Amino acid sequence: MVIAHNILSVAALAATFIKCASAEQEKYLSYNGLAMTPPMGWNNWATFFCNVSADLLVGTAEKLVELGFKDVGYNYVVLDDCWSNGRDSNGALIPDAEKFPKGMKDVSDQIHAKGLLFGMYSSAGRWTCAGYEGSLGHEEIDAQSLAEWEVDYFKYDNCFNDGQYGTPLISYNRYQKMSEALLNTGRDIVYSMCNWGEDSPWDWAPTIANSWRISGDMYDSFDRPDEHCPCDGDEYICKLGGYHCSMNNILNKAAKYASKTRRGAWNDLDMLEVGNGGSTDDEYKTHFSMWAALKSPLMMATDIRKIDPDAYTIYTNPAVLAISQDPRGSSVGRVWRRKIDGDVNDYGVQGELSLWSGQLWGDDQVVALVNTGSQAVEMTATLAEIFYHMGPGGKAKEIKEEWDVYDLWGNRMDSSTAQDIVAGKIKVDNNLIYNASEQSYAQGLLNGDPRLLGKKVTTIKPSGSLSVKVNSHGVGFFRLRRPEPVKVKEFL
Ligand code: GLA
Repeated sequence: MVIAHNILSVAALAATFIKCASAEQEKYLSYNGLAMTPPMGWNNWATFFCNVSADLLVGTAEKLVELGFKDVGYNYVVLDDCWSNGRDSNGALIPDAEKFPKGMKDVSDQIHAKGLLFGMYSSAGRWTCAGYEGSLGHEEIDAQSLAEWEVDYFKYDNCFNDGQYGTPLISYNRYQKMSEALLNTGRDIVYSMCNWGEDSPWDWAPTIANSWRISGDMYDSFDRPDEHCPCDGDEYICKLGGYHCSMNNILNKAAKYASKTRRGAWNDLDMLEVGNGGSTDDEYKTHFSMWAALKSPLMMATDIRKIDPDAYTIYTNPAVLAISQDPRGSSVGRVWRRKIDGDVNDYGVQGELSLWSGQLWGDDQVVALVNTGSQAVEMTATLAEIFYHMGPGGKAKEIKEEWDVYDLWGNRMDSSTAQDIVAGKIKVDNNLIYNASEQSYAQGLLNGDPRLLGKKVTTIKPSGSLSVKVNSHGVGFFRLRRPEPVKVKEFL
């Protein structure tokens, strides 16, 4: 009896230990336990710049709910630069009374009342990039204000940093101060660093932040180089961030740091330009697919109140969002990259073909074939290449298996339905969009919800390959799954 009791106690102790170990592991993966999948939301900057107001934020929040974006998972409404008007006699930031006549707490309350979360911005410098008060040296009091306004997400920029950069340690110390101040408030605030890849944040930010920008600001161009975006994407460490970085430029930068991303700590490839009119549908599909595959936060940066219907069908594609929000949280890596002979565009950029792949929850695999050239190309990836990361040299056991291939764009919503939704002619419901508020992506995957898989298009035989025609500036984006998929267990 005593022995039995002791055995039970040991079992109970072991169970507790296992539980503690996984809680510890969680803490290790996300320094504050937040953002276990890449944050999704909306940010005003790329479309509205300094033209911000309570009306813009609340009006956008309303539309996010009405059009189903909230249910799809876009939770954060993020106010970027230009919202303040100096400091008060205690040193606290004062919201601009013209733009925010009822103050920031009121905006926050209205956003929360719609079931959404509120994000704000400052700079780890003397001023913000647009010249407003910065938070360097004011970390404690500014974090307090954020907590009082019940802010849920904080973007922290890098302008006017008083020369406090140049080595990883200098930058770390500057950003760590705010990290600690945010933790000290006791409020759950996702911390989004925006130091443009300066001083290699992917090497040190995971212990103090939930995400970090890896490049200068993106603009709505697929591949146009611009002198304001230095480092053409081929240098390992880009000293200057800049702006007017093309999608292709950022993609090439991300390729180098893809493996640094993990649950709760993400490479931020900058906001999504989908719907802003500067790129083609294929280019936007490539942009969105690759941001999802590389596990960037997904911040829509278009006017939701007048959203383009085709953009709507991209932003709400459940099969692609299930890649972004996959509970495993591992990024794709670039397996190969081939320049296309003689294919140089008007900007002098040579077209390329590339293969990216990565592991998903339940041992599915995501595969992206990208064509930045000027012509459609038949692209082929062998299973040995697709599973290269699982064992180079053709050793991965997965190569000898059979794989069903699901096209992640195969079930895209049709334009006319999207037109009716954005025009308010039909109301979104769970048949039209994937409702992640009711069933999370993880739960949907667990339940085998077919909307999250895409459309089955072919099967790859053992030691076979996948061949697909990829449009110019397009992507072939697939989920590979065994005919008898591995049963995924509830995560953690
Ligand atoms: C920097 C950031 C942008 C935006 C602006 C605001 O350029 O990288 O994302 O926040 O500042 O001024």
